[in-house]
Amino acid sequence: MRLEIDSDRLQRELEELGRIGRYLDESTGLWGVDRLALTDADGEGRRHVVARMKSLGLTVTIDRIGNVYARREGREKLSPVLLGSHVDSVETAGRFDGCLGVLGGLEVVQTLDDAEIQTRRPIVVAFFTDEEGCRFGTDMLGSAVATGRIPLEAAYALRDREGKLLRDELTRVGFLGGAPERLDPPHAYLECHVEQGPTLRAAGLDVGVVAGVQAISWHELTIVGKSAHAGTTPMELRADAGVAAARINLKLRELVASGRHGAALRATMGVIAPRPGLVNVVPGRATATVDLRNPDGALMRGAEAEIVAFYEEVAREEKVKISWRQTARTDPVAFSPRVRERVAAAASERGLRHASIVSGAGHDAQELARLCPAGMVFVPGEYDGISHNPREFSTPKQCADGVNVLLDVLLAFAEEGGE
Ligand code: GLV
Ligand code: MN
Ligand code: MN
Repeated sequence: MRLEIDSDRLQRELEELGRIGRYLDESTGLWGVDRLALTDADGEGRRHVVARMKSLGLTVTIDRIGNVYARREGREKLSPVLLGSHVDSVETAGRFDGCLGVLGGLEVVQTLDDAEIQTRRPIVVAFFTDEEGCRFGTDMLGSAVATGRIPLEAAYALRDREGKLLRDELTRVGFLGGAPERLDPPHAYLECHVEQGPTLRAAGLDVGVVAGVQAISWHELTIVGKSAHAGTTPMELRADAGVAAARINLKLRELVASGRHGAALRATMGVIAPRPGLVNVVPGRATATVDLRNPDGALMRGAEAEIVAFYEEVAREEKVKISWRQTARTDPVAFSPRVRERVAAAASERGLRHASIVSGAGHDAQELARLCPAGMVFVPGEYDGISHNPREFSTPKQCADGVNVLLDVLLAFAEEGGE
């Protein structure tokens, strides 16, 4: 008989965690989630999940970058199968992004407990520090440190916009652990996540077999002009940092519309902050961010080169200084064919409609792919799959389908021999 996870229990867990860091969102009138990495709310969310891990009898380890691993022993001393995701959020989140993968992993463990099944390999359920990256500037931070892309010391030295050091914030929330941050290669890594886009739902699919993740490039810009009186300063004497930022923002639109860097390029200026930010002062400074995504690595490099050349053009034309730094950069990642095949097979066996999909969002799985066969199961989202928004919603059935597939694929890997 096929094992089934307990969908009601999973929903209760999602709701409980979703109450931590909740806020009333003005633009939607809904309760949203704000658990920005290493804030008090994230600390509370982390402690809540650790308590659940311990209640399942798992052995919890915290590493030096605050990643949390909960281990269930197997029948043999083999490398574990790792399930995971994140429980930090953007400041305007729903309750599914990341949490479905972590709580889904724990639900898989509890399902095995209920059925009194001990797998051949150990199972570890993890959550990784600051997957979102919007507090300390770079995404997938914890999993990137665990897999060697970002050195620990570089991660410790990151600061948030208020100048607070990541290392101090880890200590403050009580998650600066002692375990080595570099992860021994697991046997496989599996992550269930909401799609965060419209594709699966529009196609009437139940789950997505994630083929890989597109390239991501983030820039942080500092633009320095000259603040001046808005009423008296002739237009030709201005060095308006706000105008420079606005022109770069519009250039991002043009970059996409031109098709020069592929039809799938996406470009966003998520931060645009003129200073001093007063009605009658020409902005003398501005900070801004650029987020580029492209499934094609070569086309991504072309888009990056064009926008960087434009920074120089704008600086010249607007008589401002523009400095920028790359805060995040990942190439496209293809997931393991073996994981993809198993996800597709599990979905078929359960009678679920599925198709291959490339992830638009970044995920911890792309970092783990450096160490072991890694892959993901996507769950469709309602309302056009909106995410990073309190309206983010997947039905209990959609969540359960994804986590049941996670369970099946876990079992396939956890019963395998070898290393
Ligand atoms: C993570 O959510 C991302 O920015 O893709
Ligand atoms: Mn996520
Ligand atoms: Mn996210």
